[in-house]
Amino acid sequence: MSRKLDLPIRPRRNRKSPAIRGLVRETVLTPSDLIYPLFLHDGADDQPIDSMPGCHRWSLEGLVREVGEAAAVGVKAVVFFPAIAESLKTPHGEECFNSDGLVPRAIRAVKEAHPEVVVITDVALDPYNSDGHDGIVEKDPKTGELRILNDQTVEVLCKQALCHAEAGADIVSPSDMMDGRIGAIREALDEAHHEEVSILSYTAKYASAYYGPFRGALDSAPKAGDKKTYQMDPANWREALREAEQDVAEGADMLMVKPAGPYLDIIRALREEVDLPMAAYQVSGEYLMIKSAAADGWIDEEKVMLESLMGIKRAGADMILTYFAKDAAKLLG
Ligand code: PBG
Repeated sequence: MSRKLDLPIRPRRNRKSPAIRGLVRETVLTPSDLIYPLFLHDGADDQPIDSMPGCHRWSLEGLVREVGEAAAVGVKAVVFFPAIAESLKTPHGEECFNSDGLVPRAIRAVKEAHPEVVVITDVALDPYNSDGHDGIVEKDPKTGELRILNDQTVEVLCKQALCHAEAGADIVSPSDMMDGRIGAIREALDEAHHEEVSILSYTAKYASAYYGPFRGALDSAPKAGDKKTYQMDPANWREALREAEQDVAEGADMLMVKPAGPYLDIIRALREEVDLPMAAYQVSGEYLMIKSAAADGWIDEEKVMLESLMGIKRAGADMILTYFAKDAAKLLG
């Protein structure tokens, strides 16, 4: 017995063919939305990273080649994360503003080979800091408690940002979460006539366990303590809005939410409250969960990768930092 429902509204009509689905699609993901994070090291070999299958610590030559391959499939923005030799790490992380350091050399090499590609650099001390923190660490002599010194750290971050700008970075991206760093870096850049260099602020960066594989890749985990006195509490939402207001007031050009997948509500909230372009960072743990479930045959890697990125874009991100950038761009064609 078949019974016809009296239904004037049938949403399935808008899904009845690929062409109709194409017409009504609300969100479109394209390679030009993607930013490709790349690891580098000071060596001649390209080292596969155990904690992040499919990723490498690139040599300068390998890096230039990889950036070229990504650009060829439409990914025109990259961000660098250096693995710094243990012998160069110090309590104040001075290597971060060495004009002949690994990152400035990488910027120059990539800009020379691929001038059309946007080069973004991470501004924070953790790869250079012997304590593995994003800022300078002071230990209370009585209690042994660790303090991350805000204003002293910002001073070093300004030197780091300037060093990257001088090497030719298009965008500097402070990921440290110190207070007041956006304004201080803007002022330092402007004073040095780098007013064309943009600032992409890690506005709402949470103290997340999803960064584990990244810290493995760079051997940059804190030697003691955690990052909870500077990165945000995953429980908080209003606090992200306050951070965003401050970044806007201090002159940020773009904002970022990190991680992305577990924080889609934060992306949506900032999208609604702020009119600056918004980035979201699909971090190493999000990447690894997809990679490892797919490697075990439990999910379809390509489909889940694209769906995860679509979800982030739909939530309100204009651009997405993702280790899948090159692979996703190939599929998006
Ligand atoms: C450090 C930094 C981290 C990431 C990007 N920049 C790690 C951290 O804050 O401990 C994580 C990225 C990822 O997990 O993919 N300033």
